[in-house]
Amino acid sequence: MPEKNADPIIETKNLTIRFGGHVAVDHVNLRIEPFVLKSIIGPNGAGKTTLFNLMTGQYRPSEGKVYLKGKDITRLSAVARTRLGMGRSFQLTNIFPLLTVLENVRVAIQSRKGFGLNFWRNYLHFSGVEDEAYSILKEVLLEEKWPVLASALTHGEQRKLEIAILLALEPEILFLDEPTAGMGQEEVPAILEILQRIKEAGDRTMLLVEHKMDMIMTLSDTIAVLQEGRLIADGDPEEISKSDAVQEAYLGGGAKRE
Ligand SMILES: Nc1ncnc2c1ncn2[C@@H]1O[C@H](COP(=O)(O)OP(=O)(O)O)[C@@H](O)[C@H]1O
Ligand SMILES: [Mg+2]
Repeated sequence: MPEKNADPIIETKNLTIRFGGHVAVDHVNLRIEPFVLKSIIGPNGAGKTTLFNLMTGQYRPSEGKVYLKGKDITRLSAVARTRLGMGRSFQLTNIFPLLTVLENVRVAIQSRKGFGLNFWRNYLHFSGVEDEAYSILKEVLLEEKWPVLASALTHGEQRKLEIAILLALEPEILFLDEPTAGMGQEEVPAILEILQRIKEAGDRTMLLVEHKMDMIMTLSDTIAVLQEGRLIADGDPEEISKSDAVQEAYLGGGAKRE
């Protein structure tokens, strides 16, 4: 179990963004301790993706700050934050459809190592990269698909490839926004297993937005609940599942799940 009350790896203070008159994220104070898996839940439109966008630098806040290991990164670009170890997956937009599965991961490793585009020329010199790519594919249960074009994968397999590409960049902090979105039920357990393995490796901090409550309850060390941009609860899975505010807001005020 991660150490309690460790210095946060990421912290937000009064983080706020307004779009016109609408406050999408409203004075959110979050502390994320290193090596935990923290989930962000809440109804559609609660501000979860926007909160990710603020933390990873796609959006600048109207108010408030984001800190990475105590350093104020509020004004840093998304690219600069990636270099500092924040890795965000972008629902399939970072996959090259006309490259194979293996090539997709290799490109990501090579870009991390700074080989740039010369790698096509130097391609044969990088067998170490290929080994690394295979081992990442294994981690995401996709090794048998290595020679297949990314465009020929099922949706669920593409989501696995997306996680592989993210891992290839070796982020310290993984931001996963609905990794099971659009997936058939039968593909969900594999994603759960992949996330479980990454978590068990113990060397990364993970932030997860998901709607599948059983998955959230299984994986999360802590859960933050957003409603209309505001943080209404933050605690361990047991506290959250017992919280009246959460029942009311998120589960529609029905009977408690127990
Ligand atoms: N770029 C934007 N411009 C205007 N409104 C936005 C923008 N991004 C998000 N929003 C609004 O912010 C609110 C929160 O959206 P979002 O973060 O996507 O919610 P969630 O991910 O929790 O479903 C929504 O009302 C959405 O319409
Ligand atoms: Mg969203």
